[in-house]
Amino acid sequence: MNEADSERVMIFDTTLRDGEQAPGCSMTLQEKLRVASALRDLRVDVIEAGFPAASPGDFESVRAIAAEIDGPVICGLARCHAGDIERAWRALQGARRPRIHVFIATSEIHRTYKLQMAKEEIIRRAVESVRLARSLCRDIEFSAEDASRTEPAFLADVVAAAIEAGASTINVPDTLGYTVPDEFFDLFRYLKEHVAGVDAVTLSVHCHDDLGMAVANSLAAVRAGARQVECTINGIGERAGNCSLEEVVMALRTRAGHFGIGTGVDTRRLYPTSRLVASITGMHVPRNKAVVGENAFAHESGIHQDGMLKHASTYEIMRPEDVGLSRSNLVLGKHSGRHAFRERVQQLGFKLDDTELNRAFTEFKKLADRKKEMFDADIEAIVMSSEGEGTGPWTIEELHISAGTGAIAAGAVRMKHTDGRLIDEAAVGDGPIEAAFKALERATGVDMELRNFEVRSVTTGEDAQGEVTVTVEYNGQSLRGLGVSTDIVEAAAFAYLDVINRICRRNLAPGSDVTRSTGHAAAV
Ligand code: KIV
Ligand code: ZN
Repeated sequence: MNEADSERVMIFDTTLRDGEQAPGCSMTLQEKLRVASALRDLRVDVIEAGFPAASPGDFESVRAIAAEIDGPVICGLARCHAGDIERAWRALQGARRPRIHVFIATSEIHRTYKLQMAKEEIIRRAVESVRLARSLCRDIEFSAEDASRTEPAFLADVVAAAIEAGASTINVPDTLGYTVPDEFFDLFRYLKEHVAGVDAVTLSVHCHDDLGMAVANSLAAVRAGARQVECTINGIGERAGNCSLEEVVMALRTRAGHFGIGTGVDTRRLYPTSRLVASITGMHVPRNKAVVGENAFAHESGIHQDGMLKHASTYEIMRPEDVGLSRSNLVLGKHSGRHAFRERVQQLGFKLDDTELNRAFTEFKKLADRKKEMFDADIEAIVMSSEGEGTGPWTIEELHISAGTGAIAAGAVRMKHTDGRLIDEAAVGDGPIEAAFKALERATGVDMELRNFEVRSVTTGEDAQGEVTVTVEYNGQSLRGLGVSTDIVEAAAFAYLDVINRICRRNLAPGSDVTRSTGHAAAV
């Protein structure tokens, strides 16, 4: 372990690998690059960019992140197979600081039912793989999958063999979210005491949240000597998810006196990064989520509000600005200019290029005409739908909906294509949203199956914006789209259009052409 490692806890972000494995969380290459650049700005130590042998798409995204993202270590996952390791290494070629992460399961359950391998075979595979990886790359991490359910003495043997073979980081996963804090503390102490050479490597912890203890278990491991925590933004990941990055980082910071060690993360970037990942994956952050939830700094009861007015420390253990949330929530109005808008967007932690800023400002002005009060969340919603790739090829010129109790819902649209076509279409449906979706499909010629529809309010108040996320199936592919408006039928239409445009941009639809692109439609 080098000196820097012992002075702080390294943050290993696996949003793009373990997080992306969660159902509904897959991201396109462009989206992964946006998340990776946000993680670099957040100053995480390691980005696990993917599992290159898993698919050509995974290989390509690890390759692109390795080539473009400078600063953190870029890591690729590999099973203990020569083919996986070589593929990971090929994907990592462009990285200044590459790491190969090899793993094999060690618990009796996995040995018996999944791998059908004896203990000796597991050790042999681990050693051969770490050696092969080490012959290619200086920085090697070894993980004993399902470590928390592995016999401690055998785990110590595997770990000792991996260190001897050249691993510089040893990761101890609680793969099933099964352990509890004091038990996990004991396991790390056991490894510290029984593994030869353990002090020369970084001990790492990787927890899942099946029993809601991923953060607590990770912190227990840190208390026992772990100096790398593997985690994801918003805690996304397989099943109940992984250890949440923002929670573990803020626990170490807020309770610095207790833990005596911090991280290198720029905590003011936590909130914008959380919003970015939520918006890209469509996995919304619950309002009451610790650190980044909308209610995390809201005080409703009179007694609390009174205390807050007297001194914030009465009811706040963290300052909202330390996680990137501003206190002055009510912000700009319809008379605000571009300059003020740009400033606010920057304060909220977003980086937009000129085209994206112009697009966002136009949307802001349109919204300001419709809405009495503009909140940070409104600006965020606008920015989220303006950041990224561009617009089109289709835009909605007009949308008319009629619906009512006892009346057939009908929708009519006028759609404009970037090639100059203007198409009018109409349809009826079970309700206004179905009527709008059918009219959009007819006009654009893109026929999809709606699989999921979610609507949430961006802020509070009667004129709050509605944010709609749709998941659709098209030619066996699952795609997601996002739309925001003060009118939820319009928001739904924007979300549907978002997916239609993605399909057209990818040349998936008959008669589509690739032009400019935008939005939040993502392959799921
Ligand atoms: O949960 C787990 O065990 C993993 C390993 C591959 C590190 O994700
Ligand atoms: Zn995992």
